[in-house]
Amino acid sequence: MPGYYSDEIIQEVKEGNDVVDVISEYLQLKRTGSNFKGLCPFHNEKTPSFVVSPSKQIFHCFGCGESGNVINFIMKYQNVSFPEALELLADRVGIQLQQSDQKEYNRKRKKKDKLLEINRETARYFYRNLSNNDLGHKYLLNRGINNDTIKTFGLGYAKNSWEDLLKYLLHKGFTQKDIEESGLIIKRKKMEGYYDRFRNRVMFPIIDVKGNVIGFGGRVIDDGQPKYLNSPETPVFSKGYNLYGLNIAKKYARNDKIILVEGYMDVISLYKFGIKNCVASLGTALTKDQVKLLKRYSDKFYICYDNDNAGINAANKAIDVFKKQGLESHVVILPEKGDPDEYIGKHGKEAFYKVLDNPYNYIDFKIYMYKKKYDISDLDNRIHFTREISKMLKNINSPIERDAYVSRISEDTNISEEAIRKEMSNKNSSRPTTSKDKYIKYNNRNNNKDSIKPVSYSLEPGHLIAEKKLLKLLIDDKNIYNRVKDNFKPESFFNDLYRKIATNVYDMYEKGLEVNSDELLDCFNDDKDINTIKKLIEEDIQISNSEKIKAVKDFINKINYYKLKIKRQKIKDQIRNIETNDNKGDVGKFEKLCMELIKIDKELKLHQ
Ligand code: UTP
Ligand code: MN
Repeated sequence: MPGYYSDEIIQEVKEGNDVVDVISEYLQLKRTGSNFKGLCPFHNEKTPSFVVSPSKQIFHCFGCGESGNVINFIMKYQNVSFPEALELLADRVGIQLQQSDQKEYNRKRKKKDKLLEINRETARYFYRNLSNNDLGHKYLLNRGINNDTIKTFGLGYAKNSWEDLLKYLLHKGFTQKDIEESGLIIKRKKMEGYYDRFRNRVMFPIIDVKGNVIGFGGRVIDDGQPKYLNSPETPVFSKGYNLYGLNIAKKYARNDKIILVEGYMDVISLYKFGIKNCVASLGTALTKDQVKLLKRYSDKFYICYDNDNAGINAANKAIDVFKKQGLESHVVILPEKGDPDEYIGKHGKEAFYKVLDNPYNYIDFKIYMYKKKYDISDLDNRIHFTREISKMLKNINSPIERDAYVSRISEDTNISEEAIRKEMSNKNSSRPTTSKDKYIKYNNRNNNKDSIKPVSYSLEPGHLIAEKKLLKLLIDDKNIYNRVKDNFKPESFFNDLYRKIATNVYDMYEKGLEVNSDELLDCFNDDKDINTIKKLIEEDIQISNSEKIKAVKDFINKINYYKLKIKRQKIKDQIRNIETNDNKGDVGKFEKLCMELIKIDKELKLHQ
């Protein structure tokens, strides 16, 4: 297989996949000077000796000597072959690997290079036009854009002429066909020939993260229509895959958030005020590919769209797109109607920073949206509102957070917390299958409700699943046992049956045996137990070799987390007991319990 792909395409895949971005998706890397450091995934270590160099685009472990480029990393980490790693990485950035038809691929690559060349030449031409043309230049200066900013964004001007650019590009030696494919000219309908798409507009080149000019936006400088005209989709320009300004924002986003705005002028205007970590979604709904792209440059995102109905609704969609990709984002709502450009122009940078200080998180923003939808001064609406919110609140994993929202909604609506909680646990209300449902089904199927312990402190589904998967990994792989045996004893399993299974499994390993499923089954008499174990043995938990170690850590973490939660619940019950029995005589005990509670809360926080 190696050699199957051309050097050019391998190069393209490498260029598209920044080694720091890719490795950061698997490990936690911390910046140290110009490099990044983390715990080596290829050997067991406690202090980081795994170094990733963004400038050299390689990784190297000073502990075990493992090193290579981004493709080597994926091969090693995912345990896949070279072509498989190449495919994974190509997929990651949306590069089409043309395996079979190298010629076709080369032809397309050449075409793309040609289109990029035309775009680059055009951007330069538009930029030069700006200094020769007062109209365009004045328009930008009037809007407060200075020459430095014009230069940074490469802004330009398309003359008020039908064939000016066409003639210029032909003169430069480009063919009419290539120019047409770039979208810069349009075929005439009634007569022969072509005309320029962009005329009498200030021009915004759209530049991708590699620095290629992939398309343009152009704004009228009078009241003409349409206000903005954009390049059509071309072989080098897909709107949904790019974000305006990311080529600049990415440099400022490493240790900061990325602020998502609607328009070209918002990005540029904020930049001029020194807020340089902004990108625009080019006037269309945010796509999942755009979110995937953003994820490479930051892990914090603010959506700051226009304060009007369209903007708020678009923000509501955007926050869900982030959520679907497993990312948290915040929405910033400007205090008055208008867009970020207008706001910062009117009130200045400090005022804008103040607005950024109060972003809405997911739940807060959804509550804001529901409040907009339902006027809660009306009783009927208040009920609807509370129902909708309850549906959402029951999906919050953290009980502490859930509690806080319940009391807030209760204050807002005058509906009692108890009623809201009841609504949240209402079995009739429709909702998609959540892990909790799975948990219930799981118990019914195995009919082993009684083995969940302790009964009075019901365990969360996440916990049970973590125990099951950890046990499964232990049964399948002695290496896992060797890794965890000192820190995680069979007694650490809460579930009775799992604890019994683990005891037997540990026993077998300690005797130097492998775990044999028949022998394991022999240790049990109860039919129900045997069935459960059989299922466990057969189950495919879909964790690849390379992910196992991390998974084990996560499972143990989760189990310990619930252990703490149960401990917390017990202490709370004891405290309540003292309080309700007016048993405050035992002040020492009361205080001790409170201190313990605080300690546990701190530990719980560390786990989150
Ligand atoms: P806006 O109408 O909010 O524009 O559209 P804006 O950025 O505030 O522009 P100014 O301040 O009036 O110059 C937001 C974005 O939607 C896209 C553009 O990308 C624009 O920046 N848009 C808007 C279009 O593509 N076509 C249009 O006709 C209008
Ligand atoms: Mn505007």
